[in-house]
Amino acid sequence: MSIRTCPVHEFDSIQRRSNVSLMATIPAKKQCAEFSATVLDWFEESGRKDLPWQQNPTPYRVWVSEIMLQQTQVATVIPYFNRFMQQFSSVAHLANASQDDVLALWTGLGYYARGRNLHKAAQLIISEHDGELPVTLEGLQALPGIGRSTAGAILSLGSGVSAPILDGNVKRVLCRYRCVDGWYGQSAVEKQLWALTTALTPVENTGKFNQAMMDLGATVCTRSNPGCGRCPLQKKCQGYQTGLPTNWPHKKPKKTKPVRKTLMLLVVNDNAVLLQRRPPSGIWGGLWSFPQFDDLETLHQFAGALGKYDNHQTEQWHQLKHSFTHFDLEITPVKIALNHASGRRIMDENNGCWVDGELPGGCSAPVKRLLEKLTHTLL
Ligand code: ADE
Repeated sequence: MSIRTCPVHEFDSIQRRSNVSLMATIPAKKQCAEFSATVLDWFEESGRKDLPWQQNPTPYRVWVSEIMLQQTQVATVIPYFNRFMQQFSSVAHLANASQDDVLALWTGLGYYARGRNLHKAAQLIISEHDGELPVTLEGLQALPGIGRSTAGAILSLGSGVSAPILDGNVKRVLCRYRCVDGWYGQSAVEKQLWALTTALTPVENTGKFNQAMMDLGATVCTRSNPGCGRCPLQKKCQGYQTGLPTNWPHKKPKKTKPVRKTLMLLVVNDNAVLLQRRPPSGIWGGLWSFPQFDDLETLHQFAGALGKYDNHQTEQWHQLKHSFTHFDLEITPVKIALNHASGRRIMDENNGCWVDGELPGGCSAPVKRLLEKLTHTLL
């Protein structure tokens, strides 16, 4: 399927061909133009203009920021972005780095597939695009980790090319503005929202408009406490007119998440702890972690093969819970101290190493927490 932006003047014909609910959602051409003018005026007064990625906004800097900002707040991202740019100031620097070095700078940001994909995409940009980010939606979307909205943001904010976006903030603003029913993760609703954002996005000043829509969602039209009194869209906002704007967007239908359990082995010898690199895909792919087991018997078999230890030196720590999108993980840490007399047995060099100082790469938040606790117990 080919994807392209739809200038406002083309929208009437799309509207005529579309179904009834879509027609109810899309305002007329004149209203679309008023909408974008209002949003652009608001941007000049109140939009954010001093974020680090807005200074010298190259496609590379915008791309890195957009990936970091997926599911993550601006305030959290800023220090990560600055450190990342210091270490990897260009696509080539990123492509030439090791995955460990990239993931080390991602530690604490979560959703590590984003970091792995960023690294892979940088290598593809070097090998297949002469080191320059593509300047089309299709070209960008063919790279790992770049979806339609991120591609639109990179083009409009980084290259001055007109393309609409639809991130979480924009979805919330639009759902309220036109009382769009249904959960926006459903493909029919998402399609409606893409049609709406495409109709409302101006061909000129698209970058400013897109930034303004994200800023409106983040600072005014917030999830539970929208500031309708200071919203430039209040007069025409259908959600506001109902008196209950927070009824939109509709919530995701609730499903209870399955719980998975795992044991983590914190095996210590001479102040060093054994870490393994996780397989490249799946949860925490490529990150350094404690060896994990489904049951105590296998954990002890593994630890026994590393050296001797007394059972009274084994401690079971309190459980930690970690939430993923599709399941919750219950982690039971088990600390074992090997007898000093017993040497460290050789680990497979490729995925295990004894660490007594700096980590060899990135690690997940619970592993980081456990390492900190372990360091305190070893002091
Ligand atoms: N969220 C996603 N992209 C953003 C941007 N450019 N500025 C602020 N928040 C964002």
